[in-house]
Amino acid sequence: MDPRLQRRVQRYGWDKAVPFYEAYWKDQLAPAQSRVLELAALRSGERVLDIACGTGLVTFPAADLVGKDGLVVATDISDKMIEFIHQDASNRSITHVRAMQMDAESLDVVDEYFDVSICSLGLMYTPYPLQAVREMHRSVVAGGRAVAAVWGSRSNCGWSGIFPVVDSRVSTDVCPLFFQLGTGDLLKSTFEQAGFSRVHTERIPTVLKYETPEAACGAAFAGGPVALAYDKFDEETRASAFADYLETIESFRKGTSYAIPGEFVIVQGWR
Ligand SMILES: C[S@@+](CC[C@H](N)C(=O)[O-])C[C@H]1O[C@@H](n2cnc3c(N)ncnc32)[C@H](O)[C@@H]1O
Repeated sequence: MDPRLQRRVQRYGWDKAVPFYEAYWKDQLAPAQSRVLELAALRSGERVLDIACGTGLVTFPAADLVGKDGLVVATDISDKMIEFIHQDASNRSITHVRAMQMDAESLDVVDEYFDVSICSLGLMYTPYPLQAVREMHRSVVAGGRAVAAVWGSRSNCGWSGIFPVVDSRVSTDVCPLFFQLGTGDLLKSTFEQAGFSRVHTERIPTVLKYETPEAACGAAFAGGPVALAYDKFDEETRASAFADYLETIESFRKGTSYAIPGEFVIVQGWR
C-alpha cells in the first residue's frame, strides 16, 4: 500500500472515530495503558512525549503523574484527536498538556528534549514503524526511556476478522501490517535497531468485553482504524459487513454478549 495513502486513511479514519473511541475502547484498552504507564515510571517534573495520543487516555494520567512542574506533549496524525485533547485539557483546566498534530514518523520536536517517549497502540498504523521508533529514540535525553504497546499476534486477537471483512469491501487494504509488530520479538528488535538498550518486552493476554452485538460492531467498525471505510459504506454494505464480522466472533458469544480474546505486547527501552 502507498504509505501516503495509508497515512491519509488513518488520519481521516481516526477523525471519524473520535466520538466513539472512548465509549468502545476505554475499558478494553485500560490493561495495556496502565502497564505502559507503570513501565514509563513517570516522576514529578518530567517531560513526556505521547505519540499517537488519541483522545488522551494515556496523556492525562501521564500529566497527573508528572504534575504541574512537568510537561506532556501529545501528538497524533488526526487533527480531530488533537482538538479533542485541547478541549479536554481546557475543560479540566490543565495547562501542562500541549497537543499538536504530527506524524509519528516525522516529529516536529527537538532532539533529546523529553525524559520519556510513549506510544500506546499507535505503531501498528505507521507505514514504517522503525522510523517512528527512531523518532522516539531521537526525542529522549541520554538515559531517557521509551515505552510502546501494540496489539499481539493475529492468532491471539479474536477480533482480527474485521480486516478481511472490510478489505473485501474496499479497493485497498486498510491496515496491511497491523499484526506484524506484535508477532514474535519484532517490536523488541525494532527498539534495538532504533538504538535503545536494555530492552524489556512482555506479552499480556486480555479479553475484550462487549455487552451487545451492536457494541462489538461499533468498536470494530466506527471506533478504530477502519472508520473511514465504514463511513463510506451504504446501509446495505454496513448490514452485510456487520453480519460477516459477527460470524467471525461467534465462538466468543455468550447470549447477547461477547468476550473476545486479545493480546498486547509492551516494550520498554533505554537510550
Ligand atoms: C488506538 S488509538 C491509540 C490512542 C491512545 N494512544 C490510546 O492508547 O488510547 C491509535 C491512534 O494512532 C493515531 N495514528 C495513526 N497513524 C498515525 C501516525 N502515522 N502518526 C501519528 N499518529 C497516528 C490515530 O490517529 C489514533 O489516534
